[in-house]
Amino acid sequence: MAVNLLLGLQWGDEGKGKIVDVLTKNYDIIARFQGGPNAGHTLEFDGIKHVLHTIPSGIFHDKAINLVGNGVVIDPVIFKKELDNLNTFDLDYRSKLLISRKAHLILPTHRILDAASEASKGKAKIGSTLKGIGPTYMDKTGRNGIRVGDLELKDWKKRYRSLANKHEAMIDFYDSKIEYNLKELENEFFEAVEMLKTLTFIDSEEYLYQAQKEGKTILAEGAQGSLLDIDFGTYPFVTSSNTTAAGACTGLGIAPNKIKEVFGIFKAYTTRVGSGPFPTELFDNDGATMAKVGHEFGATTGRPRRCGWLDLVALKYAVQVNGVTQLMMMKGDVLSGFSSLKVCTAYTYKGKTITHLPYTIEPENVTPIYTEMKGWSEDLTKMTKASELPDELNEYITFLEKELETPITIVSVGPDRKQTIYR
Ligand code: IMP
Repeated sequence: MAVNLLLGLQWGDEGKGKIVDVLTKNYDIIARFQGGPNAGHTLEFDGIKHVLHTIPSGIFHDKAINLVGNGVVIDPVIFKKELDNLNTFDLDYRSKLLISRKAHLILPTHRILDAASEASKGKAKIGSTLKGIGPTYMDKTGRNGIRVGDLELKDWKKRYRSLANKHEAMIDFYDSKIEYNLKELENEFFEAVEMLKTLTFIDSEEYLYQAQKEGKTILAEGAQGSLLDIDFGTYPFVTSSNTTAAGACTGLGIAPNKIKEVFGIFKAYTTRVGSGPFPTELFDNDGATMAKVGHEFGATTGRPRRCGWLDLVALKYAVQVNGVTQLMMMKGDVLSGFSSLKVCTAYTYKGKTITHLPYTIEPENVTPIYTEMKGWSEDLTKMTKASELPDELNEYITFLEKELETPITIVSVGPDRKQTIYR
């Protein structure tokens, strides 16, 4: 009868999708609580790679219900593409996929606004995925948004028109010279909306409340990472939702005292896609090796990810903000072959040594202080038991557990479901 929570502790792309897929067998309901198609959750099994953007990562299992919560923003066009892809597999997703009426819709003009706003920022651009996330959340908090439940009302297209007209004026204001054909985009959008309307819309907070009363098990699935949180991330280089634990409460209507375990996912090193500070970023061969071996390219945009050593100052902050009870370490296999590894345990900040994340971590203020550790050379990808892990990796893990005061219960050694070691 528990609600457990799973979220990313770095700048996203930690491998949440894989772990949700692995854990789904233990749950009745998988519920995504924030973000939108800026996410790209990659799952691999039976030799096939699947990338999901909005649909929860439990969809490939027989029984679990997959719920898109009120905190998520949905682009019907991308959602339709995801479903078209699922249609190519023998998968009865209709009976297992539920959508909150309170989730907000990404309109075509939100996407254009995102692009126009980014273009206007010049060098200060965030590196947005340009999926319309920021403008949609702006309309949500500005109380102008269109929600999934509105699609059941007769006059929703009138509201759509008036909002789209307002957006067009805003796009003109940016004077970004972005060219677009709104008629074409709208045709695609309305067609996708009709498809969306064939799915099941629910009052998801009530559904989840009743599910808890019936003793069902729920896993809340986060997107992006804690350092991209709108409040606690490296603002303004963040996304527009609360990616941290509190986001599961507001994004699903789950009471905080109902949350039991908080699973925090992190990579054995650090990556970031898009702009913004990254103290342990590497510009040398080590960074290039991580990028190459780890296939560090964005699942949504295909952009190369920036790579660097593990930053325990940032990770400790994320563990604290989320109340993480169990850690899961991803991509340890990518570090095989490094003769020594560095872990950042403190920063020099304005001339002083600090171990907490300060207000700003721009390179001019922060220099990482590293602890060096011995690397391992063994190929981990075929290992299936904790007893097989090399001593140096065990030392790395023990060091992290001590620093983070939290156990590491899963070590992932490859993208496939089967490459998962329990400790
Ligand atoms: P937006 O959420 O698309 O506006 O992007 C804002 C920032 O968050 C950019 O730096 C993106 O690269 C980053 N971002 C958004 N979603 C993800 C994700 O799923 N993984 C990694 N970075 C992301």
